[in-house]
Amino acid sequence: MKRHLEDEAATIAFGRELFNAMPDDLAGWTILLAGELGAGKSTFARAFIRAAGHEGPVPSPTYTLVEPYKLSGNTLYHVDLYRVSDEEELRYLGWNELDDGCRIVEWPDRAPGLAEQADLSLVFSYAGDGRDVEVVPLSDRANRVTVTTNRSGEESSVSP
Ligand SMILES: Nc1ncnc2c1ncn2[C@@H]1O[C@H](COP(=O)(O)OP(=O)(O)OP(=O)(O)O)[C@@H](O)[C@H]1O
Ligand SMILES: [Mg+2]
Repeated sequence: MKRHLEDEAATIAFGRELFNAMPDDLAGWTILLAGELGAGKSTFARAFIRAAGHEGPVPSPTYTLVEPYKLSGNTLYHVDLYRVSDEEELRYLGWNELDDGCRIVEWPDRAPGLAEQADLSLVFSYAGDGRDVEVVPLSDRANRVTVTTNRSGEESSVSP
């Protein structure tokens, strides 16, 4: 599924909408956010985390690598692998212990093996003044997630 995000507000709306389309229990889910510098990954992550009930700032995990959000319904882990150059480093950031929550991962291409254990891949790209997002389900349970593909409200599974 591909969707055009005409401005920042559309990226925020899409983050909220995808959260609302997800199952209630997100433990063990992994969502990959790919795309070049400035493509909108953090804008999406912030909206998703706020939709889950977090109020207040959503600091960049670029230096801490992981920012945890223990919310009433779910635990979310905002992960940024920008500074990770080697898959081994995932162990140092405690990746395996993050399976009680939903991992939202910026720069997943730094650890290519992640795709095998992820549920959803979101690829953001520049499109005119706005952005496009391509949503690719990577697991059976992700195939059952349904979001609207456009503002007119047509519903579509995230699978093609
Ligand atoms: N759909 C959109 N159209 C236009 N601008 C957008 C859109 N979505 C987000 N932006 C803007 O793009 C800029 C970069 O967004 P953001 O920080 O989310 O990107 P990023 O992919 O996380 O970048 P980085 O790789 O540097 O962390 C911000 O100013 C944001 O407001
Ligand atoms: Mg970012």
